[in-house]
Amino acid sequence: MSDIKAVIRHLPKCELHIHIEGSLEPELMFALARRNGITLPYDSVDALRRAYQFSQLQDFLDIYYQGMSVLITEQDFFDLAWAYLQRAQADNVKHVEMFFDPQGHTSRGVAFETVVAGLYRACRQAKESFGIDATMIMCFLRHLDEADAERTLDQALAHRDKIVGVGLDSSERGHPPSKFKNVFRRAGEAGFHLFAHAGEEGPADYVWEAIDVLGVERVDHGVRSLEDPVLVRRLARDRIPLTVCPLSNLKLGVVSKLADHPLQRMLDSDLVVTVNSDDPAYFGGYVGENYTAIQSALNLSEAEVRAVARNGFNAALMDDDERAKALAVFDTPPKKA
Ligand code: ADE
Ligand code: ZN
Repeated sequence: MSDIKAVIRHLPKCELHIHIEGSLEPELMFALARRNGITLPYDSVDALRRAYQFSQLQDFLDIYYQGMSVLITEQDFFDLAWAYLQRAQADNVKHVEMFFDPQGHTSRGVAFETVVAGLYRACRQAKESFGIDATMIMCFLRHLDEADAERTLDQALAHRDKIVGVGLDSSERGHPPSKFKNVFRRAGEAGFHLFAHAGEEGPADYVWEAIDVLGVERVDHGVRSLEDPVLVRRLARDRIPLTVCPLSNLKLGVVSKLADHPLQRMLDSDLVVTVNSDDPAYFGGYVGENYTAIQSALNLSEAEVRAVARNGFNAALMDDDERAKALAVFDTPPKKA
């Protein structure tokens, strides 16, 4: 193993952009389908994996919503999140902020409480077993209307102790952040942290709306921000983090090859760039693999890789003491073998 791969393996990491339903590996999908008496439209794990060919976000979303149909019981949601958290532990992830899509489940008749209970139990177990801080962020599906998001927020109010924030995901084009202005205002007033996907497939204007209309504290993806130099200066000045997901960008055709990925230019523009996995079961890699792939494609230096991992802790929802403790590890030179 080259030195830089070992550095990446051992770096403490945050994962701030993971859709827990996007960590549903085909093997678990088939096992849950069997357990719940559901027939999938694929004969085998291999046939399902072969279907993971996407040329744009919507191609992926169609398969992603179909995949989550096997999640029915509290135990299913626990098993999903627990499988991910075990994998995160292997990547030396210390802190996770996990997105979930309640409307993808309530629309199928699964109770909001069932989803939250299963995911939350896995988060608590990750703290006990691995010392990983795992928290939950509920996303609104932007292809649905704001009234649906409002009803989902109403359901979340009883779970303020378990859900730390709200986000915005799903089909970006044609669904600007401003469509959700009222529900985000109400979520902020209720004490939720605010996040939104913007500038993945959508234009830089959507990033402006996410920060100025919705008032988000982090932007998910945001890679198209580079098309607007005034926006780049604003994101850099206000230290607004971007949760970048290189393998996702490659698999969804946001970039045609990783060597063209804008992450180096983002770092050079003084943006608070973090590296994350998005939907690792569909895009071919968990967070460690995202670090390794982008480092190798852009020939990032060790200092740049370490800066990206530090950015994760600066961008995370942590109190000042926790953050200081986590960042102190980066200032301690690694022990010589
Ligand atoms: N939901 C799951 N993954 C997503 C992505 N990459 N963009 C938008 N919505 C998503
Ligand atoms: Zn995402």
